[in-house]
Amino acid sequence: MSSLLAFHNVSKSYRVNDALVPALHDINLSVSQGEIYGVIGHSGAGKSTLIRLINLLERPTSGSIWVDGQNLMELNDQALRDMRRKIGMIFQHFNLLSSKTVAQNIAFPLEIAKCYTADEIKRRVGALMDRVGLGDQAHKYPAQLSGGQKQRVGIARALANEPRVLLCDEATSALDPQTTQSVLRLLNEINVDLKLTIVLITHEMNVIRSLCDHVAVLDGGRVMEEGKVSDVFLHPQHETSRRFVYESEAWDESTIAAAFAHVKGKLVRLTFRGDKTYEPVLSSAMREHDIEFYIVSGRIDKIKNVPYGQLVISLNGKQIDEALAYFRAREIRVEEMR
Ligand SMILES: Nc1ncnc2c1ncn2[C@@H]1O[C@H](COP(=O)(O)OP(=O)(O)O)[C@@H](O)[C@H]1O
Ligand SMILES: [Mg+2]
Repeated sequence: MSSLLAFHNVSKSYRVNDALVPALHDINLSVSQGEIYGVIGHSGAGKSTLIRLINLLERPTSGSIWVDGQNLMELNDQALRDMRRKIGMIFQHFNLLSSKTVAQNIAFPLEIAKCYTADEIKRRVGALMDRVGLGDQAHKYPAQLSGGQKQRVGIARALANEPRVLLCDEATSALDPQTTQSVLRLLNEINVDLKLTIVLITHEMNVIRSLCDHVAVLDGGRVMEEGKVSDVFLHPQHETSRRFVYESEAWDESTIAAAFAHVKGKLVRLTFRGDKTYEPVLSSAMREHDIEFYIVSGRIDKIKNVPYGQLVISLNGKQIDEALAYFRAREIRVEEMR
């Protein structure tokens, strides 16, 4: 897949009074055409700064940003205006115009683009409302809508000019968990149906896990770790990533050995991915080798649409090494914890 968006050695400092306050340090990342790319970080990590650099609300202090093969730093005013239209954005607090109806909010970017007839606008707004499931809400005002509906209007408005990339700044952070899921499903549908590249920033690992293909972990304005979501989620390398992953977990990797000090046998963590998750590997290992096991902790879930399982088991018996080799031969990742 080709790169649609790239940061090359991008740094950004804000001028506050007479001082330069750094917000991003030497960021390098590359987003492929058609993927959903997540950036996760705590408050103050630099996420909004990063996204504002993409939609040209801020300029980097150094480095270059490329969208669709064009260096944003080198665009003239007209080219910048054209590029802005190719970049759609949705926000945590929706940013709808309260005096305009749903249909008028969605029509707004089409009207200011000045390249559509009134008929075209009407037709496109109708299609966009259907796309986001608001076909029957055209004449309501934002105050009459739920949070999830407001975000759907935001999404329709962001799609109006057929952008090349959709930026989402904490788009589900103001929504309850159920509404969050329905908005994430809609974003996923849009990504699949329109092959639209999405960059989203969030402080929630669950948003990354259910939606994204790649993730960058941002802390103190630096990318700490970057990679496929399944790799970062199942085997986080950096302390910041670990904290995000284990926030939602009962047992943190570093405390497992201590938490299960009273458990006899060899403690190992097995990670299954894809179809392996549903194969009876443990019971067949027990049948073929002299071992017994019991499960100490575990989870079975999905990362985007791929199932995975991660189990900590206690192994006992005479053929533990053989059993571990048996797991490894079946592409199960084995980590010996104690
Ligand atoms: N307009 C600004 N002027 C000065 N400092 C800013 C400005 N915007 C953000 N910052 C600072 O940059 C850092 C990163 O902020 P931000 O990008 O908003 O992080 P996040 O979105 O991850 O919470 C913070 O230290 C913040 O105080
Ligand atoms: Mg922010």
